[in-house]
Amino acid sequence: MTQKRVYNFSAGPSTLPVSVLEEVAAQMLNYKDSGMSVMEMSHRSSSYLEIFNETKALLKKVLNIPDNYKILFIQGGATQQFSTIPLNLMKNGKADYIITGAFSKKAAQEAKKFGDVHIAYDGSDNKFKHIPTQDELDLREDTSYVHLCANNTIYGTEWKYVPETKGVPIVVDMSSNILSKPINVADYGMIYAGAQKNMGIAGLGVVIVREDLITEHKENIPVLMEYDTIAGNDSMYNTPPTFSIYVLGLVLEWIDSMGGLEVMQKKNIEKAQLLYDYLDQSDFYQAHSDADNRSIMNVTFTCPNPDLDAKFVKESIAAGMSNLKGHRSVGGIRASIYNAMSLEGVETLLEFMKKFEKENK
Ligand SMILES: Cc1ncc(COP(=O)(O)O)c(C=O)c1O
Repeated sequence: MTQKRVYNFSAGPSTLPVSVLEEVAAQMLNYKDSGMSVMEMSHRSSSYLEIFNETKALLKKVLNIPDNYKILFIQGGATQQFSTIPLNLMKNGKADYIITGAFSKKAAQEAKKFGDVHIAYDGSDNKFKHIPTQDELDLREDTSYVHLCANNTIYGTEWKYVPETKGVPIVVDMSSNILSKPINVADYGMIYAGAQKNMGIAGLGVVIVREDLITEHKENIPVLMEYDTIAGNDSMYNTPPTFSIYVLGLVLEWIDSMGGLEVMQKKNIEKAQLLYDYLDQSDFYQAHSDADNRSIMNVTFTCPNPDLDAKFVKESIAAGMSNLKGHRSVGGIRASIYNAMSLEGVETLLEFMKKFEKENK
């Protein structure tokens, strides 16, 4: 079965480790002698609670999450958090947003419905090629939180430092680079991510939040948007996305068995460097993002013209690769090389890029 799989460079939902898919398949009809699939289990059953608790414990271990942080599993993906964050964390009616791409822009637009949003940086003028330096940030000191997006999936840029915010909590969207490298969770007030890239499959939003930040929220908000209610019910105020949580557990087991996030980071840098090194010496391809803030998850570049971009995508499919077309707002090519993309997959892409350049120069 595995021989027929393509190298899937999709930005999300994305390729998963084959061993995880095989385990899911093997356990599909009868999970560990329970006589049923995980899909069919009550979320309150002992079999499911074991999966749930082990997944949470493993996330805590792999990301090294301190005890004063709550882990919440929420339906609705990352976009739902764009609304939930201001409803819970905009304590004094003010928040600062750093716009480095389409998702941070959406998050800021949503927050504007609920209070005074100050844009501390907006990179839209330079086509989001750049991550601001500390000096380029215009941050307020009397703001409730500073929001940023750690990795810009569409543009292929990634923050390489944590900005100084003078004690103001940082709320970070890590949808497309969580679990790709070690992080210091304590640098952030809240971390959130949709699961469908490095964490597994769609349907689950993961929130890691400092518990002192969620003791109160705006009045009369939808109950499923109250972080304290979700935390107080251990993510089971209602039915959580049970199967997505189960897959997250298997993905975490895979990461742990590979040696954890240091190993992931090493492999991810190696894969990304292969592509960036080639792009940098080529006068055919042009990398999209500035050299000092390139993403190790999403590599974006263009061919000399849009016709060649289209030809590249078409021929790459015939060569056993899929989803290399860039996002419609940037064009060109985007190779999403999350944790589960193998080195062989990236080498296959590299060989194809070399051949395509030779044939079309
Ligand atoms: C960085 C980032 N934030 C937010 C989102 C939106 O996530 P969701 O589709 O889970 O709402 C995405 C989706 O690709 C993303 O890449």
